[in-house]
Amino acid sequence: MTFKQKLAEATGIKADRIPASYQIIGDVLLMKMPKLKQKEKQKIAASILVLLPYVKTVCEMKEVKGELREPVVIAIAGNGTITTHKENDVLYRIDAAKIMFSKGNLSERKRLIEHVKEGETIIDMFAGIGYFSLPIAKFTKAKEIFSIEKNPTSYHYLTENIALNKISNIIAIQGDCNIAARTFGNRADRIIMGYFPGTESFLPAAFWMAKSGCMIHFHNVYTEKELWKVPAGQIKHVSEAFKKDFEIIAKKKVKSVGPRKWHVVVDFRVL
Ligand SMILES: C[S@@+](CC[C@H](N)C(=O)[O-])C[C@H]1O[C@@H](n2cnc3c(N)ncnc32)[C@H](O)[C@@H]1O
Repeated sequence: MTFKQKLAEATGIKADRIPASYQIIGDVLLMKMPKLKQKEKQKIAASILVLLPYVKTVCEMKEVKGELREPVVIAIAGNGTITTHKENDVLYRIDAAKIMFSKGNLSERKRLIEHVKEGETIIDMFAGIGYFSLPIAKFTKAKEIFSIEKNPTSYHYLTENIALNKISNIIAIQGDCNIAARTFGNRADRIIMGYFPGTESFLPAAFWMAKSGCMIHFHNVYTEKELWKVPAGQIKHVSEAFKKDFEIIAKKKVKSVGPRKWHVVVDFRVL
């Protein structure tokens, strides 16, 4: 019997009305429940707590909003949304009601650590709670990672997570990476631009910080039709303004984010 069928049996709600997908962050379960009445949501949430004893709180996930990618999350049953999530041997302390955690980016987090070389200076322009910075610090021999995060809540958890994972080479900076870039000079061997949409507007900041040979991991969202001409054009436009050449090394679809719409990453080297 599938989990959805078990929930249907426990709640008396028809299986086709029960959402098929959910995400578990630490011991908090997040579910999109768009077509359900409040009473149905409560029944489902209460049954989840019984069926999955390791889940402490069930929340409705509404959307992820705005520049700071803040989720709109409402707790339906249980209590407490601050939790510790473990992924690939890294601990992430997080308030699941206030900060997003994209499990869909796991392959990208793993892929990155394979590329980092000993002694690199890395800039994580949109560090969040340390999604990329923490695994890089833990599993590579990078010299230093400057992790920039604008949202004070995410920054708070970033600093907690650095301590929780006993990391000593992450320098956490609270602020806007467009502004922070001005203080760095061109010293980065690798830059992670883990943000979308509209990431192209941060390309000048990345070029500002990149030293010759720097690898930039440029994330963004494009329609199927725009791939791969539009991202290449955006990079070319900024590289010309900086009078630099660049070479695209890899192009990858990370995950689908809508009908014929993709979260992608383009790896390019500044020459
Ligand atoms: C999608 S989340 C981070 C995701 C993570 N890098 C990943 O791909 O798994 C994007 C983060 O960028 C932060 N952010 C948005 N604009 C920013 C800016 N101008 N400077 C620094 N951080 C910013 C948001 O607060 C959010 O924590």
